[in-house]
Amino acid sequence: MQNAGLDELGLNWRYLAFDVLPEHLVPALEGTRSMRYVGLNLTVPHKLLALEWVDLLDQSARKWGAVNTVRFEGKDPDEKWVPLGQAEDPNAFHTIRSVGFNTDADAIATSINQDLGLSLNGSHCVLLGAGGAGRVAALKLAESGVESLYLINRTASKAMAIAEELRGAFPELRVATDYPNAGEKIDLVLNATSLGLKASDALPFDPEALNLEQASHAYDMIYQPTQTPFLKKAHEAGCRTSNGLGMLLYQGAAALEIWTGQAPPIETMRKALCRHLDTRS
Ligand code: ATR
Repeated sequence: MQNAGLDELGLNWRYLAFDVLPEHLVPALEGTRSMRYVGLNLTVPHKLLALEWVDLLDQSARKWGAVNTVRFEGKDPDEKWVPLGQAEDPNAFHTIRSVGFNTDADAIATSINQDLGLSLNGSHCVLLGAGGAGRVAALKLAESGVESLYLINRTASKAMAIAEELRGAFPELRVATDYPNAGEKIDLVLNATSLGLKASDALPFDPEALNLEQASHAYDMIYQPTQTPFLKKAHEAGCRTSNGLGMLLYQGAAALEIWTGQAPPIETMRKALCRHLDTRS
């Protein structure tokens, strides 16, 4: 996805993946700084560890409490910080700083918006899951102006803790930690649990308590398999559905924009991502 985007932008860069053990993270990051990398992405568990390492946190990383994107910047003779990806000669800088960003949370709302065609403002949502991904989704839904939010989780105490956090930060939001009433119209059912990754997984909700015909849209954060049993059931119930591929796409596209300062070629990146996932499945 990133390499297809770089090619489309005509940049002579390469995006590479490395497995790094948590105990090697800091020297690995220092190495990328020394080698004048333009930037990098981090995944679990490094997103939290990198919070401590970066020289500066963008407000996105501060807000979401995690860093998934780092941009390196060099200090020019006028004491101005220039992103290395936008500098003529990255080796001309003696002082380099790292800036941490988070592009994950916004990607959830962008994908729901773009891929499902749903405007979250004023909507009624059921969120399944209260793990790390569920918490960020809940906060992003609230920030996007959702009117009522039903938080469902196997471990009810985790849903309750998120509900408390939401009530403190978003007093207008109606938050519940049980299912909506039968027949109540729901705009979106969002799966943020890991149920559906394996074909043998149970549904992420209780079909006795929630009828998907109540809902108009369903989103699964899982993108492989491309259609989970939850999405299949939602489709059969007449919902407009989307898997989580868009989340992966939009967080990556936002990172590419942070490094290059250019509009990311979304459709080229989407095609490359789909091609890659097709060859893996
Ligand atoms: P992530 O960072 O992807 O959110 P996580 O924090 O481990 O990962 O959260 C996984 C989510 O899937 C949780 O909501 C979890 O429910 P619990 O909080 O009760 O553990 C949910 N989940 C995982 N396996 C499950 C299962 N077999 N049945 C129901 N929910 C499950």
